Amino acid sequence: REQLAGRDFLTLADYSEAEIAYLLDLAAYLKKRRQAGKVDQPLKGKTLGMIFEKSSTRTRISFEAGIYQLGGLGLFLSSRDIQIGRGEPIIDTAKVLSGYLDGIMIRTFAHGTVEELAANASIPVINGLTDSFHPCQVLADLLTIQEVKGGLKGLKLAYIGDGNNMAHSLMLGAAKMGIDVTIAAPDGYQPDSAVTEQARLAARFYGTGVEVTADPEAAAENADVLYTDVWASMGQESEQQVREQAFAGFQVNSRLLSLARHDAVFLHCLPAHRGEEVTAEVIDGTRSAVFQQAENRLHAQKALMTALMS
Ligand code: CP
Ligand code: NVA
Repeated sequence: REQLAGRDFLTLADYSEAEIAYLLDLAAYLKKRRQAGKVDQPLKGKTLGMIFEKSSTRTRISFEAGIYQLGGLGLFLSSRDIQIGRGEPIIDTAKVLSGYLDGIMIRTFAHGTVEELAANASIPVINGLTDSFHPCQVLADLLTIQEVKGGLKGLKLAYIGDGNNMAHSLMLGAAKMGIDVTIAAPDGYQPDSAVTEQARLAARFYGTGVEVTADPEAAAENADVLYTDVWASMGQESEQQVREQAFAGFQVNSRLLSLARHDAVFLHCLPAHRGEEVTAEVIDGTRSAVFQQAENRLHAQKALMTALMS
């Protein structure tokens, strides 16, 4: 616990299996407390600044509600309103905000922006999504898998779709927690090779595997968890049509789901596009846990903020 206080949370590569397990335990505890109507306020008097350079429903609302539930205050800082949007350097922003706040969550484009903010801030910086990583989502995903499957070790997760920020964070996070990860993405849209290598190294250490393939059927076979994400992420709107063609054949539908284990769970970070990366039948079907997964953002991030900021 002492090891986490004051730390940044930029990618899951920086966290050990034991640290992630601690965060998941704390998240499960905080979830139970909330369900029992109990109020815990370890962050009384603390303020989290939340910088958004991209849209958000889940991340914004779960962080803002979460810090409030922990006794603190969340400040929504749209890059349209703060001086970052008019070109104030990240380094100056980091130093100024460090004087006012107890933590910063940022959602932006280049991962380097988050690294620069963290390097120059004296308070914890949390990555709320970059073009490269979405670690807060994966904390919630692991909590959800643990709840649905009763544990993590020995499971097989198949991610079907774009080798994007979600694919990267799932490879880094899930393999470390005992899950074998297969990413199925079309050629040209596979995960970054440096991140894949990093995930493979971690997987070797933790006794799991990370595979990348262009064959969605092979990936889905015997999977315990089927995961997908949008084909065009935020910032890629102009590529929508080209991507729809490239990803034809990578839709998670009943046929693909039937290749997975009979008790496989379907996950999606949301927002989803029914009829594109997933059919309505799957996402709204009995195997789907996407709304439990979305709720778990709240509990996982409350654990994260408690660990880093108290
Ligand atoms: N999954 C997720 O991060 O959702 P938002 O973009 O709505 O925050
Ligand atoms: N890959 C998606 C995730 C949204 C939560 C994006 O970056 O837009």
